[in-house]
Amino acid sequence: MRKPFVAGNWKMNTDSHSSVELAKRVASGSSQVADQSVTVAVCPPFVYLQSVARALSTSSIAVSAQDIYFEPKGAFTGEISASMLKDIGCSFVLCGHSERRHVVGETDELINKKVAAALAGGLLPILCVGELLAERDAGQTEQVVNRQLKNGLADLSVEKVSAVTIAYEPVWAIGTGRTATPQQAQEAHDFIRKLLAQMYNERLAEEIRILYGGSVKPANAADLMPQQDVDGLLVGGASLNAEDFLAIIQAAV
Ligand code: 13P
Repeated sequence: MRKPFVAGNWKMNTDSHSSVELAKRVASGSSQVADQSVTVAVCPPFVYLQSVARALSTSSIAVSAQDIYFEPKGAFTGEISASMLKDIGCSFVLCGHSERRHVVGETDELINKKVAAALAGGLLPILCVGELLAERDAGQTEQVVNRQLKNGLADLSVEKVSAVTIAYEPVWAIGTGRTATPQQAQEAHDFIRKLLAQMYNERLAEEIRILYGGSVKPANAADLMPQQDVDGLLVGGASLNAEDFLAIIQAAV
């Protein structure tokens, strides 16, 4: 049985006060279900990670970074290492989010190094994959996801990969209000799970969690979650509103 997993990616939003307030409201509103029935994580901006982690230290909500750098330390101005994230109480980290891929220009090769560094540093990576609208329209969804998954997980052992969560986030559904239909999400997740079975083994494929992301709202969460291969949700905009995020968590239980 895969435990449902709901993560809120705050992206470049909130401030020092509102980040802590939002985290506290999420913690108090989900205390009956977080951890026991559903893994819940929030992904604040780097600068608020520590204060959010402190505010959540007595709760069952996990803290995730939105990105990481692959080197352990040294002259890498502006970058943040796995050990720094671990040090301030992070347990998860997003790797290869579509905005890192398409706005910042991260490559599969760089993302692979980040996943490996996260695992080596004791963090749990959430590897994000997903096609652009033009790629979907050209019938290339499976090809793109295949490439991102194989390259993103390159040279990692089965044991390492078993600590990874996959997030399928079609780029055309992110921040557009145009969510994938439950069938589209299920098709992509089924493809990913079968691919993982081929790449590793059936057991790993059955156990790994695959989250859907892209315009998830309280109104569509209840239709996405019952899909057989949708194990959770990676929520952007709606995670900035405590009531909406809590409603999404409830839909995942
Ligand atoms: P939205 O929920 O705002 O579409 O963002 C999705 C996302 O990118 C989460 O990582």
